[in-house]
Amino acid sequence: MKKALQNIKPSTLDSLRSSFHNIQTSKDADDLLVHLCGINDFFGSEHDFLFFLELLEPCHIVSEDLERREFGDFQTPSILSDLVCNILLKENLIPETVVEPTFGKGSFIMSALKAFPKLKQVYGVEIYEPYCWFTKFAILELFIENPHLNKPSIFLYCKDIFGFDFSRIGKAAEKEKVLVLGNPPWVTNSELSTLNSSNLPVKSNFKSHNGFDAITGKGNFDIGEYIILMMLNSFAKQSGYMAMLAKNSVIKNLIYDLPKTTYDIYDMAALKFDAKTYFKASVEASLFKCRFGRNSLQYICKASFLNSPNLVESEFGWIGHKFVSDVALYQNSRDFDGTCPFIWRQGIKHDCSKILELKMEDGKFINGFNEELILEDDLIYGLVKSSDIQSPLITKPRKYTILTQKKIGEDTKYISEKFPHIYGYLSKNIQFFSERRSSIYKGKPLFSIFGIGEYSFKPYKVAISGLYKKPSFSLVMPFNNKPMMLDDTCYFLGFDDISEALIAVAILNSSYAQDLLRAITFTDAKRPYTKDMLMRINFFKIADHLGFKDARKLLIHLPDDILQYVTGEKWNAFFATYRKDREKEYQGSFFETVPIQQHPAFTP
Ligand SMILES: C[S@@+](CC[C@H](N)C(=O)[O-])C[C@H]1O[C@@H](n2cnc3c(N)ncnc32)[C@H](O)[C@@H]1O
Repeated sequence: MKKALQNIKPSTLDSLRSSFHNIQTSKDADDLLVHLCGINDFFGSEHDFLFFLELLEPCHIVSEDLERREFGDFQTPSILSDLVCNILLKENLIPETVVEPTFGKGSFIMSALKAFPKLKQVYGVEIYEPYCWFTKFAILELFIENPHLNKPSIFLYCKDIFGFDFSRIGKAAEKEKVLVLGNPPWVTNSELSTLNSSNLPVKSNFKSHNGFDAITGKGNFDIGEYIILMMLNSFAKQSGYMAMLAKNSVIKNLIYDLPKTTYDIYDMAALKFDAKTYFKASVEASLFKCRFGRNSLQYICKASFLNSPNLVESEFGWIGHKFVSDVALYQNSRDFDGTCPFIWRQGIKHDCSKILELKMEDGKFINGFNEELILEDDLIYGLVKSSDIQSPLITKPRKYTILTQKKIGEDTKYISEKFPHIYGYLSKNIQFFSERRSSIYKGKPLFSIFGIGEYSFKPYKVAISGLYKKPSFSLVMPFNNKPMMLDDTCYFLGFDDISEALIAVAILNSSYAQDLLRAITFTDAKRPYTKDMLMRINFFKIADHLGFKDARKLLIHLPDDILQYVTGEKWNAFFATYRKDREKEYQGSFFETVPIQQHPAFTP
């Protein structure tokens, strides 16, 4: 409360001193305050009221820098919350009830009070008590300065949203136009677990991901996403709107899961804004907007910019059974959207780069602590990382990695028997392995790694970085007669025959595959390219359109000693073999099939 009062203007404090001059009890104070600013139960207790009177004494009001970001939260600047409310106003989305599920310092509540002339009620929840006081006094100041402003009844709860019952508010506002407004926390469940924070819903695995999804990151979700779904569950059946700031990844997930839910929402839009400017945050974010009360027949979201909301830049969402990032672009590529006949694999994951990733200097291996090492060569392989996948042909590694296993879960006792130097080195640094936070390493053999299997040892690989915006595919050659490894930011296909790898590179770098990837990937995601995306590339359809001659042209920049392996016979044989295998697949064998991700509907 002290901090909140420090934020208030001297003229407001003078006004409060004179208003509270004769007030003796918290009950009288609360009655006066509901009249002054609409907030019910402003103090709620005698103790808080007496503290307030004490703070009103002039000696307590000392100015202090209030900029703080606890809970990893991002308070919305008023310029942005005002802009959002004005956009809603212009679109005639005028609410009678506003619900701000995590109101923080109250920026959205203040903007709503100023913007919406027909407001009757405002409900807000916030876990952090100093912010609750901050908001109360900011609202009080607003009405002291603007006594003729429409004054709704305001209910502010200093509570944990995950235990809060919104159904009461839903009932109270049943007949009203409700606006769910705000900016829920920007933090993921895995960030919270790193912070040992319990600020999570009870059902923190609400999408029912299995433990293995931790490896691919699928089990990770944003708390903000959970809160938005909570709000849709509570309010989407009635008439009204939602306008919430969120990371683009959260909005994408929301639209992705929409067909599996029963939310009555329509007219979905994502209005991009620059999170760096408003929040000093390097994240792609938008205002998510939708209307309540009717089920959308199309699960598509319009994308535009907050400063030109009516200029639709693109649309993303579901076209039949396919989820796409650009509906218009996809029209030309939908023929190539199918099932890849090969299994894309992710590179090696070990979370121990300082120990397991080495560089070579003057013929010596050096680890991440710049220690020179003497190690047996046998378990050391060339390593290609995302930053290396810039050129179309990779023949030499920049780094090396120690492979402690050849398949997941393999017993690692053999290292001590066969490779004493490597064993000594790993044992000396065992604490770096035991400090690995991910649960995937729990209960596994010493020095375990993931993303390893028979496929890792294929000599010729076609690789892409999952992190870069442009989908460029490189041919990775063996080095010193050993296959090179990729790190876990990369995906690859492995081949025994160099000709097959070359044909795959040509197909993947063709405009057909590139256009398809542009139409289905979200380049603003942290990892735009994932196994799920790559498994959609229909090699055979692309090969039919491309033809051998154009495919070869795409490889013409490669040295002759490599290009010689691309022949018409190899092209025909390649497709003949895989077409035959594919026919077998239809009879129910051979290739792994890739099921579409299925989440159960959200039930908080
Ligand atoms: C991104 S900030 C935005 C605050 C405010 N909505 C705004 O737009 O400025 C998220 C807010 O959520 C609050 N918060 C975090 N976890 C919460 C929880 N479990 N229950 C209620 N509020 C929570 C934080 O304290 C923080 O104020």
